[in-house]
Amino acid sequence: MYISSLTNRDNLDKRWYNTLVNHGTGGNSASCHNRAEDKAIMKTLLVTGSNGQLGRAVNREFAGSTEYEIYNTDVAEGEGIHALDITNVDQVISLAKELKPYAIINCAAYTAVDEQETKGDLAYKINALGPRNLAIAATEADSKLVHISTDYVFRGDGNRPYTEFDTTGPVSMYGRTKLAGENFVRDFAKRYFTIRTAWLYGDGKNFVKTMLRLSENHDEVSVVKDQLGTPTSTKELAKAIHYLIPTDNYGLFHGTCEGDTNWADFTEEIFRLAGKNTKVNHVTTEEYKKMNPQSTDRPAYSILDNYMLRLTGDFRFADWKDAIRDYINELQ
Ligand SMILES: NC(=O)c1ccc[n+]([C@@H]2O[C@H](COP(=O)([O-])OP(=O)(O)OC[C@H]3O[C@@H](n4cnc5c(N)ncnc54)[C@H](OP(=O)(O)O)[C@@H]3O)[C@@H](O)[C@H]2O)c1
Repeated sequence: MYISSLTNRDNLDKRWYNTLVNHGTGGNSASCHNRAEDKAIMKTLLVTGSNGQLGRAVNREFAGSTEYEIYNTDVAEGEGIHALDITNVDQVISLAKELKPYAIINCAAYTAVDEQETKGDLAYKINALGPRNLAIAATEADSKLVHISTDYVFRGDGNRPYTEFDTTGPVSMYGRTKLAGENFVRDFAKRYFTIRTAWLYGDGKNFVKTMLRLSENHDEVSVVKDQLGTPTSTKELAKAIHYLIPTDNYGLFHGTCEGDTNWADFTEEIFRLAGKNTKVNHVTTEEYKKMNPQSTDRPAYSILDNYMLRLTGDFRFADWKDAIRDYINELQ
């Protein structure tokens, strides 16, 4: 029905491996010379959390680039992935000084929103100190820094899309730690792009795959109808990162797909596109919390306006309905 993440991961690993082998082995001297020349002008992108949803999308976005080469890292070493724990300031600074990357793209984070309510120390280490360390390292290595944040930095009591100039007020541990990360990046990085995104789905664990999995053995699912936001594909976000990286257009950006919806309507669209008959019960957050008491608070309204992108350039995200159609087509 849909490609398992294992299959996608295997394909991607093979591609990373091929890239490494192609860069790392001999051949005739003329092609070696050309590769050496290419390498001399290639800009290195140091990607953290490269085995996560966004990390994989960034790899796809830059695959085959003649301008950039990727150095993949994650907390766990893997094929084509070097071990780098972003919470370890010495490791982070020494790698950045050694690689002198053109840019560091921070795709690493602690994203389990409910789980981290009771794991505050870990959440602050990964979501706040991690970006702080990368910001210090980027400044020391004279690299640009791309950092990703979230719509959950807002309280969620607004009634029009939030711009980058609106006041934050997180209601969860995830939101508070991500906001602290944003602040560290602003304080310690010289040249940075912080992009707040929302409701991400891509190659990895996400809401869309959870709903598709539930539809396999459930006739109905209950999904909240009173939390508004914008589902965003990692593919679209990776395009935005590619667009911003070569520019000097630094600062804070909102980066979500266009349009908005709620989780229940989003689920109906997923099922419609995937040809599923599972019924979606539209429930309130209060009703959902009675069924799932462990679920933490989330902003009721977190629609973001990509205001800074609109003010400063011509990059536009796809509409969320087009992006989810593209994603479901790729899964099938
Ligand atoms: N997912 C969403 O709905 C959403 C919404 C808004 C914003 N965002 C933001 O978008 C960005 C990308 O999210 P995503 O969905 O791609 O996340 P993801 O799939 O959870 O990937 C995060 C990656 O970071 C790794 N990681 C965790 N701790 C680390 C550490 N100490 N050092 C290095 N790597 C570490 C994870 O490894 P393990 O899996 O082994 O822990 C994982 O590979 C994050 O900044 C997130 O906060 C996400």
